[in-house]
Amino acid sequence: MSWTVKTFVLLCLWQLQEGAQACSCFPRHPQEAFCQAEVVIKATVVGKADVVLNTGEKMPGIFNPGVSNVIKYDIKQTEAFKGPEKLFGSVYTASNSAACGVNLANGTEYLISGRLDNNALLDVSLCDFFMRWEDMSATQKRGVAQRYQMGCDCKITRCSSIPCGSSRAECLWTDFLMGNLFRHFTCIKKSDGSCAWYNGVA
Ligand SMILES: *[C@@H]1O[C@H](CO)[C@@H](O)[C@H](O)[C@H]1NC(C)=O
Repeated sequence: MSWTVKTFVLLCLWQLQEGAQACSCFPRHPQEAFCQAEVVIKATVVGKADVVLNTGEKMPGIFNPGVSNVIKYDIKQTEAFKGPEKLFGSVYTASNSAACGVNLANGTEYLISGRLDNNALLDVSLCDFFMRWEDMSATQKRGVAQRYQMGCDCKITRCSSIPCGSSRAECLWTDFLMGNLFRHFTCIKKSDGSCAWYNGVA
């Protein structure tokens, strides 16, 4: 379950403790992460470089102002699921995980989601949904390609102890089904306007 802890999360909370920074994120279902992301792509990592700034140049990205070291991963984008009609050639992230930086392996194909910064560059953080493409379930692959978008009007609500209140327009993400819902279910809006988990792949 360690990959889930690392990847299925969202909001980064910054904690400043005697100069040390730690990254922590609230758990998010990948569909919720998809719906909230500005960009979702499939890409292979082909290079990695520290970002070197010229004098007076500003750090690219919308990172927390405390982040001063950034890594640029060169990528070869092979698919776009969400975002502007352009091919991204690189993604930017903080240089260490304590600052919510992601660590991507060279030569590996990933699902990457993130936000556009002020320079229209793609920024990714530990709190975004990213995974090795080969580790994604069939439901997740179908989800980013098509299904997740169909449920973006629905709310996915964490439920850690029964009973949880539920409205018609939400899907409950219960702890005891967490991994299963994470990998194998999509929250779909039905024709009557209500929302429900769906686990079909076909
Ligand atoms: C990363 O992989 C690419 C090929 O996919 C290769 O050309 C490049 O030299 C590698 N870079 C590093 C830092 O290993």
